[in-house]
Amino acid sequence: MSACPNADQTDTRDGTTMTTSPAHVAPDAGASTLARELTPAVGAAAQIVRRNIARFADEYPDDTTHHNRYPLRPASGPFPEGANRDWTTGFVPGQQWLAWQLTGDEQFRAAAARHALDFERRQRAGEDLDTHDLGFLYTLACVAPWRLTGDQDARAAALAAADHLMGRFLEPAGIIQAWGDLDDPEQRGRTIIDSLMNMPLLSWAFEQTGEQRYADAVRRHTAQLAEHIVRADDSTFHTFHWDPVTGQPLRGTTAQGAGDDSCWARGQAWGIYGFALNFQATGSQELLVAAERCADYFLAHLPADHVAFWDLDFTDGDGQPRDSSAAAIAACGLHELARVEPDGARADAYAGAGVQILRALVAGYTPAAEGVDSDALLLHAVYSLPAGWGIDEGCLWGDYFYLEALARHTLADWKRYW
Ligand code: GLY
Repeated sequence: MSACPNADQTDTRDGTTMTTSPAHVAPDAGASTLARELTPAVGAAAQIVRRNIARFADEYPDDTTHHNRYPLRPASGPFPEGANRDWTTGFVPGQQWLAWQLTGDEQFRAAAARHALDFERRQRAGEDLDTHDLGFLYTLACVAPWRLTGDQDARAAALAAADHLMGRFLEPAGIIQAWGDLDDPEQRGRTIIDSLMNMPLLSWAFEQTGEQRYADAVRRHTAQLAEHIVRADDSTFHTFHWDPVTGQPLRGTTAQGAGDDSCWARGQAWGIYGFALNFQATGSQELLVAAERCADYFLAHLPADHVAFWDLDFTDGDGQPRDSSAAAIAACGLHELARVEPDGARADAYAGAGVQILRALVAGYTPAAEGVDSDALLLHAVYSLPAGWGIDEGCLWGDYFYLEALARHTLADWKRYW
């Protein structure tokens, strides 16, 4: 299938001949102005995605850049260099689907469709599936093509991945375990705030199959996180542990934040976006409140340029690196939250803050803004400072959410993949 959804007109966005859709027409004058302002950023980003297709073909780059260049994903265990393993490979086709929608350039669709085949293979082969991050992976690699092109094989693989993810649901706590084997004493009963973004795969599986177990898992897991991973002051723990035998909530800890009691910036951003999505899936008001609380805390702890430091405990003058990926996720999450926020003034504030963050990224955190040659769309993220991974580098998820934020503001009726 090759038609861009609603494709019916030509345009010259990013300098190539392309097919665009009525969705590219912004709904009002204000939005048109913003869309026009962001058009050069879309073009520059699409050009990098295009170059990365030429460079990596059907293989996968590593999670983060090294000196602003993505190396091939390193070999690990049974996996050769460039293989489809771990949690970030879905962001590659995710960027390509977005680039297709933004430009209509067939090259992007073809590349993303080849990745969908590889994710179908990964699922059939049972390769590296024992993680809650099946949601990140299969939402972008397989639900997106189902939504955009009606790809039935991708749909089947995404449903199988959702079924596999359900195997991590732990009674009596009512949570989906994040990492590790289910019998690993270190990891059993532990969940992380990022998991909120894995729930949409289960909500989609419920929509597709009508099987209540998917909706029940989303409702219980997200209710547990809203109650326990969000602290009284509206900051969040990165991870939270439950007693696997009794189901009792135990304690919050961190893996990627500055400390157990600090507020890891990306986690707070996952909270904004993830609670806003899961509120819509469940209709649970507590999740809307959790999204608002995450947003309010995040926005109150931004530095002067609106791009968060890697942990929100740090601010201007602390000499710490930014996490531009947290900013990109928050830009998407604030836009999503603004669409469902019933209080008009709050909705306007969230929408405005999301645009402010996106503008800051475009103006100060891209290769074009800095005049550097990079194959990341967005510079200056941190993967894990405590682990020494990807500090002040580009990363695949930062690139994806930056492009998603651009799509949200330049394609008037863009529909999320999540
Ligand atoms: N989901 C893992 C991370 O945000 O680093």
